[in-house]
Order: sequence, then structure tokens, then C-alpha cells
Amino acid sequence: MRFTGKTALVTGSSSGIGRATALLFAREGADVIINGRDEKKIASVVNEVEKLGRRALGIRANVGSFSEVHVMVEQALHAFGHLDILVSNAGVFHHQMLHKMTEEEWDEVLGVDLKGTFNCCRAVINPMIAQKWGRIICITAISGLTGYPNMTHIAAAKTGTHGFTKALAAEVASHGITVNAIAPGLVDTPILVNMTEAEIANYTQRIPVGRIGKPEEIAEACAYFASDQAGYVTGQILNMSGGGLI
Ligand SMILES: NC(=O)c1ccc[n+]([C@@H]2O[C@H](COP(=O)([O-])OP(=O)(O)OC[C@H]3O[C@@H](n4cnc5c(N)ncnc54)[C@H](OP(=O)(O)O)[C@@H]3O)[C@@H](O)[C@H]2O)c1
Repeated sequence: MRFTGKTALVTGSSSGIGRATALLFAREGADVIINGRDEKKIASVVNEVEKLGRRALGIRANVGSFSEVHVMVEQALHAFGHLDILVSNAGVFHHQMLHKMTEEEWDEVLGVDLKGTFNCCRAVINPMIAQKWGRIICITAISGLTGYPNMTHIAAAKTGTHGFTKALAAEVASHGITVNAIAPGLVDTPILVNMTEAEIANYTQRIPVGRIGKPEEIAEACAYFASDQAGYVTGQILNMSGGGLI
């Protein structure tokens, strides 16, 4: 049990990669804060965590809102007394060519995927500095390493998060806090409702391992970065794309 006595905030844990990560952390002994926008989905994952014998606190909050994130972190600290691990995972996805992209679409993706990471890190950093230990993991995407057509907004947000990860890692390493990012390729989660079957099949053909990823595989990497054993690894971006980017 790698996380006995630890508390983890996993944003966007009402679904997909975040849910798998929260459940793995709970199986490894952590208490977890389950976050998202949909109360029913949050309640369902809280229930799953509690069945594993761990405490879970469900908090509906928009990670794009500085004030909502601060209230969420205050609630978590009040409930558990400490916050040790942040997985900044919440994200939105829609394809759009730049010449059709609206200001609202751009602002939504940058607001959730990039500013959301700033908001969450800003809210947890002082408690982590005070306790001289912390683990921050940002879920980005390989589009942030390679670029991808129809994803200028997502690529910009994810590349921005890579720079943020490296800068923050250098800033807080001396306080016992590590900051790393995981850049997945295509992963089998509900976010894929935004793609047609033909698009998924076309993408899969170009993945050397011959399939798309599983949320549980991303969760395992989160658990490594969150562990004591990863204390000498910081400022890194782990490409998990089945060989799609080598
Ligand atoms: N799946 C992939 O192929 C893939 C590939 C590369 C990167 N990623 C990244 O992986 C992360 C997780 O995606 P996923 O595939 O697991 O998608 P998902 O199943 O759709 O989950 C997204 C999660 O983010 C939450 N969320 C969205 N906007 C939010 C907001 N403003 N405030 C708080 N929570 C919000 C959702 O909550 P509600 O459902 O309650 O709205 C949900 O829990 C994202 O950052 C995504 O960019 C995914």
C-alpha cells in the first residue's frame, strides 16, 4: 500500500482517467477528493471509493474558476487535515479547425486545461510547502508534444502545461514537492464520444502497439509519480502513446 495516510485530490475524477486514478489511489490506501461537474457521476465514484474502505469527499467545482478551486481545497483540508497529492486531470475535448473556432471554444479549453492547472496548483502549493512534501501530476496529451490538426486550442493548453510543469518543478523541488506530467495518446474513456468510430479506427491504425490506451494504464503512471519511490523524478513529461510518438 503506497499511499496509506495520504490524501489525494484528483480533478475530473468523476470519469475516465481521473476515476481510474482515484480508485487506484484508494486501493493503495489514500483518501480521495472526487471532483467534476456532474453531481450524479461524482456520487457514483465516491460510492466506489467507499466500497474500497477509504474515505472520499465529492466536490462539484469548476477547475476553471479560481475561487471555486480555493473553496474546494479549503473543504478538503478541513475534512482530511492535509493534502498530499494533486492530479490535475480535468479536461474538455472538442475537435475544431482554427478557421471555424469560436472565442468561446478557445476560452473553454484554455480555461479548464491550462488555467485549471494553475488554479489547482496555486491552491495546494502553500499547504504542500508547509508540510515539506507534495506530489503534483498534470495530465496533458501528446498533442502538446506534437501538435495535432483541429486541436490548436488543446495543443496550446497542453504545451503550456508542459512549460508550467517544468517551471513549477524547478521552483518547489527544495520543498520536497515533485511536479511531473503525463502526456497520453488516445485513451478509451467517455471523452471519445467526441470522435467518430472511423476517426478512432484511423488513429488506432497508426499506433504501433495496435490499440488505444486504458485509463488504468495512465492511473498506474500517476501512482508511480505520486509515490515516495519517485522522489528523485521531477519536471518530466511521460509520453504514453503506445509508441505513437517515439
Ligand atoms: N481520453 C483520451 O484519449 C485522452 C488523451 C490525451 C489526454 N487526455 C486528457 O486526460 C484528461 C482526462 O480525460 P478523460 O479522457 O478521462 O475524459 P472524461 O472521461 O471525459 O473525463 C473528464 C473529466 O473532467 C471533468 N471536467 C471537465 N471539465 C471540468 C471542469 N471545468 N471542472 C471540473 N471538472 C471538469 C469531467 O467532469 P464531468 O464529467 O462531471 O463534467 C470528467 O470528470 C483530460 O485532461 C484530457 O485532455 C485524454
